[in-house]
Amino acid sequence: MRKTAVVTAGTGGIGLETALGLAAAGFSVTVVGRDPDRGARAVERISAVDPSRPARFVQADLGSLGQVRALAARLADDPLTVLVNNVGAMFPRQTELNGVEASFVVNHLSPYLLTELLLPALKAGAPSRIVNVTSGAVGVAKRVFDSVEPPGGYYGFHWYGRAKLAHLAHTLDLARRLDGTGVSVFAADPGGAATEMTDNTLTDPAIVSPALRLLWPLVRRRFERSTSGSASVAARPSIVAATDPALDGRTGVVIGADAQPHAPFRAATDPRTAAAVRRLSEQYAPVPAHADGPSD
Ligand SMILES: NC(=O)c1ccc[n+]([C@@H]2O[C@H](COP(=O)([O-])OP(=O)(O)OC[C@H]3O[C@@H](n4cnc5c(N)ncnc54)[C@H](OP(=O)(O)O)[C@@H]3O)[C@@H](O)[C@H]2O)c1
Repeated sequence: MRKTAVVTAGTGGIGLETALGLAAAGFSVTVVGRDPDRGARAVERISAVDPSRPARFVQADLGSLGQVRALAARLADDPLTVLVNNVGAMFPRQTELNGVEASFVVNHLSPYLLTELLLPALKAGAPSRIVNVTSGAVGVAKRVFDSVEPPGGYYGFHWYGRAKLAHLAHTLDLARRLDGTGVSVFAADPGGAATEMTDNTLTDPAIVSPALRLLWPLVRRRFERSTSGSASVAARPSIVAATDPALDGRTGVVIGADAQPHAPFRAATDPRTAAAVRRLSEQYAPVPAHADGPSD
């Protein structure tokens, strides 16, 4: 069967390198992004890997759940072998997207919803894999999920980490739910890389809590060091999670920045966190009853 892959935010940064790696591994790749010119350039590069399997660009702003639904409708008819939920964003200032806090939308609700809506396609393509891109920032997250917004002030890096923690808890929860269906679920931690996301956000002390701001020169140096690598190296964990035959039959595994399996960050394994994240996901990104939704 033809191997197909969808990579969100796949026209630049780590996503484009992931898409190139999947093309080299024999996949017909679809990349998703907002900018069509950038999409066309990405398609040209990915298609050049093997012109017999031309890549495809589909435009969607993954900060809009309406556009996520439209994207899923466009992709739903073809069996899907790999879905890489690579999209992620950090917002230096508190931002809302259609009335919902932006970090939570882009880093959790959007990939959550896309995955739910594409489950029938993934089951049709089984054995298939979902790869959710996580971050070391989960370690600085408030572990409270009573509402979309955590208590306390807005600090972009911490809120980004909390949304990534929600998505990691969801990833492990989904792996349990889909066990036995032929759809495996992995998290991949890219470590760090110099990309638009890091270049545009990690220079602003407002992204960290006041306590860390006091240590800003140190914190900034740490950010610089940890994101000085290349996007192609940072894409390895996602490519390994999507393709490594050693992972056949496994699920709920986190692939770390060294491209090896690791135990998941402990806070993400707490069933109370998973249950709270599930409640928020169902409330803010409801899946139509006819879809292969979380209640089955
Ligand atoms: N870079 C790091 O050090 C690092 C570390 C840990 C985890 N991560 C995670 O790795 C993933 C990739 O990060 P990155 O640094 O490569 O990010 P990035 O530099 O922001 O990625 C750029 C790509 O994302 C697309 N994109 C951005 N916002 C989008 C949106 N709303 N809808 C659709 N496409 C969008 C861009 O295309 P358009 O502009 O055309 O939309 C482009 O293809 C993210 O999940 C991030 O959280 C990164």
